[in-house]
Amino acid sequence: MKSFEFKNPVKIIFEIGAIERLHEEIKDYHNILFVYGGGSIKRTGVYDRVIKELGDKNVVELSGIVPNPETVKVYEGVELCKKHDIDFILAVGGGSVIDTVKAISSARYLNGDFWQKLYIDHEDIEKALPFGTILTMVGTGSEMNSGGVITNPDVKIKCSYGHELLFPQFSLLDPTLTYTVPREQMVSGIIDMFSHLMETYFSLPDEDNVSDSIAEALMAGIIRNAKVAYVDMENYDARSNLMWTASLAINGLTAAGKGEDWQSHTLEHTLSAYYHIPHGLGLAIVHPHYLKYVYKGHFKKWKRFLKVVFDTDANEMNEEETANLAIEKITEFFKSLGAPTKLSEIGIDDSKLREMAENTMEFKVDYSDLKHEDIYNIYKSAL
Ligand code: NZQ
Ligand code: ZN
Repeated sequence: MKSFEFKNPVKIIFEIGAIERLHEEIKDYHNILFVYGGGSIKRTGVYDRVIKELGDKNVVELSGIVPNPETVKVYEGVELCKKHDIDFILAVGGGSVIDTVKAISSARYLNGDFWQKLYIDHEDIEKALPFGTILTMVGTGSEMNSGGVITNPDVKIKCSYGHELLFPQFSLLDPTLTYTVPREQMVSGIIDMFSHLMETYFSLPDEDNVSDSIAEALMAGIIRNAKVAYVDMENYDARSNLMWTASLAINGLTAAGKGEDWQSHTLEHTLSAYYHIPHGLGLAIVHPHYLKYVYKGHFKKWKRFLKVVFDTDANEMNEEETANLAIEKITEFFKSLGAPTKLSEIGIDDSKLREMAENTMEFKVDYSDLKHEDIYNIYKSAL
């Protein structure tokens, strides 16, 4: 394994009725910025339950956070924090709401423009506003990590910022809150968590290591539980397993001692910045095509993946055949959940692929060294 440092300070409360623990968790704070999305929490009753828990705190609301969240709500949130002397932010929603809150938290005490300084130049921050989350949609793992992704629609760039000051103070996880998530969104989240695990699994070292073993168990578990949740969306065991798996898939655990790839995520972020598609569905299209482009030189790893995650023997197959079969299995899994696996299936043609490739950052990782031309080739292969 590679050398590593691991720290994850997020307090997780995982139980049915976790919302009712909110009052206790925020007892030291007075002025709360309550951030949520487009209204699902009002329809499901979560909003009323949160308001009850907030009791006599001074509460300011910031709503209307859209999927693939944009810079505008971050600026708005920072202004509200300054104006109302906010000392705590509460995110209630999925990854988009939590990532917006992380951006507001990091920008609150910053001098200058948060987009340029943090998301483009990756400058350090010295202080951040504390925040906690109530998770209603599973997949991104944002509830248990210190990174967030924001889109700047003016330049069509979607990118991330991470800092150790940006871990939530707590995350309240109640699997029953996810029952109302539309099936397509649930599938998007399932593919997202599977993709997070592949991003570190298909990175060096390929030799036996405990992080890969954890990732294999989690990937096999996702396949088992997704099958159940797809037909029975209120199956508590399946939804609770998926909920905790999503947190574990990107909280640092499976990256310990490993390289981290994130090329597929980089390609997907451009895709959703241009076409506003759910993140996980973009990954269903991009990730298998990316792996097909970079599979060479990791024969043992492909064999092991095929055997442990998909219970399939490579037998006498060579590296190309083994990798192809494994990638086919991944694609079949995504298709079995009704996800698209080609751009044309969601009405995307080749008209913007060149521009998208030029607008995607080039970088070198363990399994690949993608130039703009390679990125273009991968998008094209996904048509
Ligand atoms: O906006 P509302 O009305 O609340 O509806 C949301 C939204 O339309 C709905 N929803 C959420 N909980 C619900 C519900 N509907 C009914 N019942 C519920 N209980 O679901 C829709 C999608 O929500 P969103 O938060 O956008 O989904 P997700 O959690 O997949 O977040 C996606 C964003 O996270 C980023 C993605 O790129 C994308 O921008 N990611 C963040 C990461 C991180 N911070 O670590 C890592 C990921 O790789 C990812 O990039
Ligand atoms: Zn993701």
